Order: sequence, then structure tokens, then C-alpha cells
Amino acid sequence: MGTADSASTPATAGLDTAPSIEPRPNGPFRVSNVANLLNARGEVLPTKAAYSLCRCGHSSTKPFCDGTHKTLPFDSSKLTDGSLNRREVYHHGRLTVFDNRGICSHSAHCTDELPAVFRLRQEPWIECSGADQTTVMAQVRRCPSGALSYSLDGVEYRDWQGPPRIFVRKNGPYEVSGGIVLKIGEPEWGEGASSEHYTLCRCGRSKNKPFCDGSHWDGFEDGQ
Ligand code: SF4
Ligand code: FES
Repeated sequence: MGTADSASTPATAGLDTAPSIEPRPNGPFRVSNVANLLNARGEVLPTKAAYSLCRCGHSSTKPFCDGTHKTLPFDSSKLTDGSLNRREVYHHGRLTVFDNRGICSHSAHCTDELPAVFRLRQEPWIECSGADQTTVMAQVRRCPSGALSYSLDGVEYRDWQGPPRIFVRKNGPYEVSGGIVLKIGEPEWGEGASSEHYTLCRCGRSKNKPFCDGSHWDGFEDGQ
């Protein structure tokens, strides 16, 4: 199966100036060359060429790291057993929707905005025939985590176009888009995940670090 729409993935040349995020072991996300850091109100936060973002959930200067992780038993290990990390497929006509529950950040865009297709507590939970093809594809593109993607006539669409950007979701994860290089090993990515957009845990509770797994819903408040 081919893939398309991947032009936003940065070129490998000039990697020292490429936007990147490095998850530091038991420490923050070290971000380089990403000026477009937005808070939940859509305001651009002042940054330097390199800065550190909190991922233990306890910094007093969120979203930035203040070093608090050093005083905690913060463990950035991946703890999931991997049982949710598999891509399910849902077909209707020319359209196939892919879904990996293991990397969903539970933003609820899909279930809130298109409940006829993304159906809470029903089986199958994705029913592609619940809306026209264009509407389903547009909704899939609003999935911030990359849990959802689609193919049309056998051509897979998983990476979108857009400038490098980190959006700090209120009481939730970092929503990263625009092909910012995440410096992790290949096996750490979820099956079928996009490396162009993904969500990173900043509450410290995810079992699938560095990615968000929705655990922030259990009471994480960032004071934004
Ligand atoms: S992250 Fe994607 S799949 Fe998960 S709830 Fe949000 S839109 Fe739906
Ligand atoms: S921010 Fe979603 S699990 Fe931590």
C-alpha cells in the first residue's frame, strides 16, 4: 500500500537546525528549533532555540521544566504490556479507516464531533458508513494523536501538511504536528503511528511514555 501527503516530513539534511524533541530519560522533553509553542488559548509562548518541557507533571512553571523531576521518583519507562498497540481496520466502499487504541490521547474530537461514525460503547466502535466519505476523512485528520488514519482506493494518508507546532492541551498532552523529529527508536512507535503528528504525555502518568495514553483524564490539572 502506498502512502501520500508526507511532504511535511523534514528533510534529513541540516538536522542540527531541524525541529526536534528528545525525551530525556527520567527528565523533560528537550525541544530544539520549535518557536511555535502554543498554550491552550492559542497564544505563542516565548521560547529560545532550545528549551525543556515538563513531562513529570509537577513543574511550577508549566509547560516548562523547572527541575522538579529530580526531586521525585519520576520514571519515564514505558510500562504498557503493548496489548492495545495494534491497528484495527474498518472498511466502507473506497474508504478504510485505521485505528490504534494504544496511542489514542482521548481528546474526544472524533466521538464528540462525529458520533454517527465514532460510536462510544458500541461495536464496532467505528462505523464508516455513518457519514459521507469526505466528512469521515476530515474528521480523521482532526485526530491529534495519530491513532486514526485512513486510506482511499488503497493509498494511505497518515501524515498531514503544516508548520512545526506544539500545542499545549489544557489539562492534557502536548499535541505535536508538522513533522517535528521525535528522537526515539523505531520500536517505540505504535503500529501505524504517524511520525508527523503525535501526542506526548506531560502529566507523568501515561503507561505508554513518551506518548499520551489518556491517563491525564484521571485528574491532571495544569493550572492553565
Ligand atoms: S486521539 Fe484521535 S482517536 Fe483518540 S479520541 Fe482523539 S480524535 Fe479520537
Ligand atoms: S498527558 Fe495524557 S497521559 Fe499524560
